[in-house]
Amino acid sequence: MELDEILACRLDAARKKAEPCTIVIFGASGDLTARKLIPALYHLSLNELWPAPVRIVGFARRPKTSEAWRAELQEALGRFSRRGAPDPAAWERFAASLFYCQGDIAEAAAYEELRRLLDDTDDLRLKQNLLFYLAISPSQFAEAAGRLHEAGLLHKEGEAPGWQRVVVEKPFGHDAESARQLNASLTRFVHERQLFRIDHYLGKETVQNILLFRFSNAIFEPIWSRQCVDHVQIVVSESLGVGARGGYYEESGALRDIVQNHLLQVLALMAMEPPVSLDAEAIRDEKVKLLRSVRIPFPDQVASSAARGQYLAGPDGAPAYRQEPKVRPDSNVETYAALRLFIDNWRWSGVPFYLRSGKRLPLTASEVRVQFRPTPNVLFAAQCGANLDANAITLRLQPNEGITLRINGKVPGASTEIRPVRMQFSYQAEFGAYTPEAYERLLLEAVSGDATLFIRRDEVEASWGIVDPVRQAWSRQPLTADEMYAAGSWGPPAAARLVAARGHAWRNPQPQ
Ligand SMILES: NC(=O)c1ccc[n+]([C@@H]2O[C@H](COP(=O)([O-])OP(=O)(O)OC[C@H]3O[C@@H](n4cnc5c(N)ncnc54)[C@H](OP(=O)(O)O)[C@@H]3O)[C@@H](O)[C@H]2O)c1
Repeated sequence: MELDEILACRLDAARKKAEPCTIVIFGASGDLTARKLIPALYHLSLNELWPAPVRIVGFARRPKTSEAWRAELQEALGRFSRRGAPDPAAWERFAASLFYCQGDIAEAAAYEELRRLLDDTDDLRLKQNLLFYLAISPSQFAEAAGRLHEAGLLHKEGEAPGWQRVVVEKPFGHDAESARQLNASLTRFVHERQLFRIDHYLGKETVQNILLFRFSNAIFEPIWSRQCVDHVQIVVSESLGVGARGGYYEESGALRDIVQNHLLQVLALMAMEPPVSLDAEAIRDEKVKLLRSVRIPFPDQVASSAARGQYLAGPDGAPAYRQEPKVRPDSNVETYAALRLFIDNWRWSGVPFYLRSGKRLPLTASEVRVQFRPTPNVLFAAQCGANLDANAITLRLQPNEGITLRINGKVPGASTEIRPVRMQFSYQAEFGAYTPEAYERLLLEAVSGDATLFIRRDEVEASWGIVDPVRQAWSRQPLTADEMYAAGSWGPPAAARLVAARGHAWRNPQPQ
């Protein structure tokens, strides 16, 4: 056995064991169910960690039989599964656990029908252990939870046998106040620990690796602070425009769609203090502490600490945002958002964290770049000046997941020439191409009752608290010509000025 294999350390011993249960998907005929949930559940059914038996009940308004739902899902699986069409025998086994319940979320009679279906088994575990996955509009979350409670299907932990959990999708509220109200409505029927708020970014291998990278390697911790770090850049760029999702995006924009959740979650993992244990609450305590340390801009500071943009038509003939279907022709919604944040704690005081996300940028990529301070202005730096690059660690979250350390090296030859070189760890090169979908991991954790990868109530509220002042300032000001950017460019001039104000420049993800 190779030494690296001997040194591999599995932490699964402490893992909560997943128990047989019924998963009830509200929104069973929707896009999320077909594209993400069913492929993930099918793949999980092939996984040794998945419990048996698991029943899956779909709930939606459209009338159809369980057979018809199974046929739809089989076809969708062929289209959306990373492994293509399912193996017929494995599909038959999986399909036997799928049942459809037709009903309206707002009608009490539908819950009687659901209850009848759930009771139709001799296995107590399938009757009592219930995971309700709300793949429906957030405006329906509270009603669904309330009616499940009235129907005797959803109880606060300890008030009924078995367990019940509720999984909700983003967006969780549209500002801090609405998030607080939603939290208050849901926690009338379940304890916070029964609520699993999904941010699918946390299901990604590379995002989970941030904690492992930071806290299982002794060499990084001493340099992970204001002593050595000059600034940090976190980017989620997308090459596509909004396409058919114009209606949704008009209510959301880049700030609510990506910054409030994905970018702030990555920021929290990158900058938080080491937790006291690997327990879900210990990790989430540190994340929320970090989010609360982020300095919230005053209204008059928004212009100097944030930049927004909206894409114009592309040279490839792709439409401008305002020409997309279901988008208002004078829309003020940002398709690009950049923030400069400061974290007011001892570790990070004075270090800018730049967060940005945009649509119709040159490529689709997510990465974090930790830019270290330059060397003192002596020796090589004295001669090279700004040409001597400072060191940087880049965590590439997607695609081509990996970690790159940028250092300077001597170009071989008789002259003394210095050039940046990269030391690279690539997931694919090291472990092969297999990376499970984020939803697989998240569903497994929710069924196991481990909330580490889900967002706690105070995290959501703290995150909204950071972006709300920016959103409010932007909503009061119409977009200017200076904030428009050409599709296929890296964003508006205002964003370049945001980083230049501190002597920095955006370091764009590179095609790999
Ligand atoms: N799609 C994604 O990739 C994605 C990603 C992240 C988050 N989300 C979130 O996930 C949720 C679902 O998104 P989606 O894209 O799947 O939406 P969708 O395609 O519009 O599906 C909505 C589902 O809700 C059901 N529904 C609506 N009103 C109902 C009612 N009164 N009673 C019973 N069922 C009702 C619909 O069923 P009938 O039409 O048959 O009634 C349908 O199955 C949303 O909150 C969305 O923001 C989606």
